[in-house]
Amino acid sequence: MASVPSLASSLHQRLADALSAALPEVGAADPLLRRSDRADFQANGMLALAKKLKGNPRELATKVVEGLPAGDLIKDVEVSGPGFLNITITDEAIVRTLAARAADDRLGVPFAEHPGTTVIDYAQPNVAKEMHVGHLRNSVIGDAVVRILEFSGEKVVRRHHIGDWGTQFGMLIQYLIEHPHELDHEGEVSGEEAMSSLNRLYKASRTLFDSDEEFKARARRRVVDLQAGDEETLALWQRFVDESKIYFYSVFDKLDVEIRDEDIVGESGYNDMLAETCRLLEESGVAVRSNGALCVFFDDVKGPDGKPSPLIVQKSDGGFGYAATDLSAIRDRVGNLKADTLLYVVDARQSLHFKMVFETARRAGWLTEDVKAVQLGFGTVLGKDGKPFKTREGETVRLVDLLDEAIDRATAVVREKAQDLTEEQIAERGAQVGIGAVKYADLSTSVSRDYKFDLDQMVSLNGDTSVYLQYAFARIQSILRKAGEARPAAHPELALAPAERALGMHLDQFGELLAEVTASYEPHKLAGYLYQLASLYTTFYAECPVLKAETPEQVENRLFLCDLTARTLRQGMTLLGIRTPEQL
Ligand code: ARG
Repeated sequence: MASVPSLASSLHQRLADALSAALPEVGAADPLLRRSDRADFQANGMLALAKKLKGNPRELATKVVEGLPAGDLIKDVEVSGPGFLNITITDEAIVRTLAARAADDRLGVPFAEHPGTTVIDYAQPNVAKEMHVGHLRNSVIGDAVVRILEFSGEKVVRRHHIGDWGTQFGMLIQYLIEHPHELDHEGEVSGEEAMSSLNRLYKASRTLFDSDEEFKARARRRVVDLQAGDEETLALWQRFVDESKIYFYSVFDKLDVEIRDEDIVGESGYNDMLAETCRLLEESGVAVRSNGALCVFFDDVKGPDGKPSPLIVQKSDGGFGYAATDLSAIRDRVGNLKADTLLYVVDARQSLHFKMVFETARRAGWLTEDVKAVQLGFGTVLGKDGKPFKTREGETVRLVDLLDEAIDRATAVVREKAQDLTEEQIAERGAQVGIGAVKYADLSTSVSRDYKFDLDQMVSLNGDTSVYLQYAFARIQSILRKAGEARPAAHPELALAPAERALGMHLDQFGELLAEVTASYEPHKLAGYLYQLASLYTTFYAECPVLKAETPEQVENRLFLCDLTARTLRQGMTLLGIRTPEQL
């Protein structure tokens, strides 16, 4: 199915044609069309143009109006003020355009004109560590951006750069060697169980490491064995990774974010490249030795003492750090995966790291001009007190606890409203509403901003919440079920009520909005669009009886608007990773 031009773009085209006919000497000119409260649209491109040509804007505007083809798109156009146009679209054009959208699976939304390959780095927890609220953001935002990009036709390669390497593994592995049954279990373990044994082991080994010098020495030797690829050591390391993955998957599952095993390429995945990355940087002079460490310097990056604060690629003891891994990952993503865009959904507090890493990769020629590298640096999740979210004891909040609480709250809301839902359905919907609420609260704030984690607000039925959107969707489904014989059908010949027009015009903007969201990686704009859609629907529903409309044609036409609203809501929410239960 072909994409459907929006009313705005059809109108834009006609105005542009009339404008260049009126002013053959300027050729193509922009009529500067925008939505307006006075009429449907306003065009004020004539003002600047006439001024530039030292003509009269009102005269030019009048000429443009005369040149507009008679047809079914424009109902009324008036020259107003110093020379802008107020334009009203016909009801017929609105319904016809919507009907064309409804006939298409993609709701008339075009694919991107020049899709490329994006490698996106998101949902990257750390092995043997609990997932916390920060991992909520990198998972939820990443998942939405993946969905949005894929919908546009972009080829997307997902990379979960999990923290699965580092000196802490020496301590963990050594402890496991000395306490060999600590990770044993009979049969399958749940994610919670896996995490709790990892936690126990982590704490015990840490305590020993800090208090027992001899253990510390053994742990350090173990790091050397690990890095040298000693088989026994690697096998034990793998156990930690596997155990952690059981846990990660259980959390992602609860979060309703799909993670595939082949996309998990953690820090360890780049081990083979690290030495070469350093050699190339040193040979090209991009990095230099400074007190034994391999460093990259930047004019504009200084420490608090005013001295340059370099990116350290290799430590003086020969160890490779976070930067070496990220630089190697860039080489892999551009060189092997052929990315033309690199996205990183990572906490904004790591912005300096990425700035330096990108700049280094540019200097080394690994990031060429035609490759874009962007960190979607997200803000911090705050508690109600406006400070970074912590438990009452001052500890970081476990992501699972937070999700469980959201699900509990949402289940209570669903239960209260539920009319004919079974217990099983209430539990399922409760999870969909609770997780949706958490995702929506996150995604409806612009990525870079901090936000307050406030469950009361998140599961509220009124206001800018996913629950409100989900109820709007479910309400439409219930109307469609009750419609019996009557089917949704567009009737362009009918006059529209103001609430129908407003809803229709908004529905028509879906494709353009998505194009914007896709190009700017701003899911919050999609959330805002959907909220407005649900609000316009609420007004429509209050003002325009659907099943009790005056004529059978009007019933069909209103059902058609209901149905298209529901499909647009569902498509938009799916792109945000939020479920739309049929019934609530
Ligand atoms: N594991 C890190 C964390 O939990 C995030 C990794 C980000 N990605 C990267 N390529 N550095 O904060």
